[in-house]
Amino acid sequence: MSKTYLTGIQSTGMPHIGNYLGAIKPAIDFSNTADGKFLYFIADYHSLTSLRDPKAISEGIYEVAAVWLALGLDTSKAIFYKQSDVPEIFELTWILNCHIPKGDLNRAHSYKAAIAANEENGKKDLDHGVNVGLFGYPVLMAADILLFDTNIVPVGKDQVQHVEIARSIAQRINGQYGQLLTEPLESLSEGEYIAGLDGRKMSKSYGNSIPLFATEKRLKKLINKITTDSTGPDEPKSTEDSLIFDLYKLFANETQINSFAKDFKEGISWGHAKAGLFEVVNDHLAPFRQRYNELMENRNLIDDELEAGAKKARIIAKETISRLRKNIMGLKS
Ligand code: TRP
Repeated sequence: MSKTYLTGIQSTGMPHIGNYLGAIKPAIDFSNTADGKFLYFIADYHSLTSLRDPKAISEGIYEVAAVWLALGLDTSKAIFYKQSDVPEIFELTWILNCHIPKGDLNRAHSYKAAIAANEENGKKDLDHGVNVGLFGYPVLMAADILLFDTNIVPVGKDQVQHVEIARSIAQRINGQYGQLLTEPLESLSEGEYIAGLDGRKMSKSYGNSIPLFATEKRLKKLINKITTDSTGPDEPKSTEDSLIFDLYKLFANETQINSFAKDFKEGISWGHAKAGLFEVVNDHLAPFRQRYNELMENRNLIDDELEAGAKKARIIAKETISRLRKNIMGLKS
C-alpha cells in the first residue's frame, strides 16, 4: 500500500535560504519522485495562537503559498491547501479534545516553555499570556494529521513531540472504539544544517538569515554582511570552516566549486569572494524569484490553486469525519 505523507507549513512570511535548502526543496523533490500520496498545507489557523493582525496573517499565507508554487511544487502530485479551507479539521479537533487527557498537554514542550518563561519573569500567574488555543496547539496539529489517515509526517526535531501526541490520541481512540484512525509516525526532515550570516544556524530569530526571495540589491547587501576574518586580500584562504565557501557549495556546480577553491588557495579578497557568492546564489534564485513576483501580483492564481487543493483534501476529510461521527457519536453520517 502506498503511504500518505503530510506536513504543515507555518504561514509566518517569507522563508529563508536555510528553510529552502533544508526543508522546502527536499519536500518538493520528494513529492515529485517518490511513490505515495502527499499533502502539504499552510497551517494558517495555528498562527492565530500568537498573531493579532488580519493583514499580516493573510499576507503570510500568500507569501508562503507563492514560495512553494514558485519553486515548482507540482499540485497534481501533492495536494496543496490551507487549513482554514478545511472545516472538518476543526470538527475533528473537538472530537480529539474530548479524548486527550489535559495532563498530556501540560507536558507539551511549547506550553512548558511558556510556563517557564513566566516563572523566570516572576509572574504570579504561570499561565499568563497563554490562550486556550496555544495550550491546545498540539490537538489542532493532531487533527491536521489524523484527518487524512497520514502514515508519515516529515517534520523538524522540534515537532516530534507533537506527532507523538497525535499518535497517542489515535491509539487511545482506536483502543476505545476499534481501528478508526491511522497511527502516524514522524520522519525527521531537516536536511543539512545551513549556517547564517554570523555562522550560527540560519534562523529568523537570530537575525542572521537571508530571505529566499530578497531583491537582488538586498541579497547583495546581506551577503556583504557575512562575517570574515582579517586575512589580507592577496593571502591564501582556507576553504575549511569558511562560511562563504560553504554557502557557495550549496548553489554552485562542480566546475565552479573547483575554480572557487583554486581562487581561495591563490588568494582572493573577501570582497571578491562575496561577489562570487552573490553571483551563484542570485543565478540560482533569479528565475524562481521572478515566478514568485508574478504570483504575488496575480494572487487569484494562488487562490485558485489553494481552492482546488482544498476540494481534493475535503473529499478525504469528509470520509474520515463521517466514520468518526458514526462510530463515536452514533450519528447516521
Ligand atoms: N507545528 C508545525 C510547525 O511549527 C506546523 C504544523 C501544523 C504541522 N500542523 C502540522 C506540521 C501537521 C506537520 C503536520 O512547523
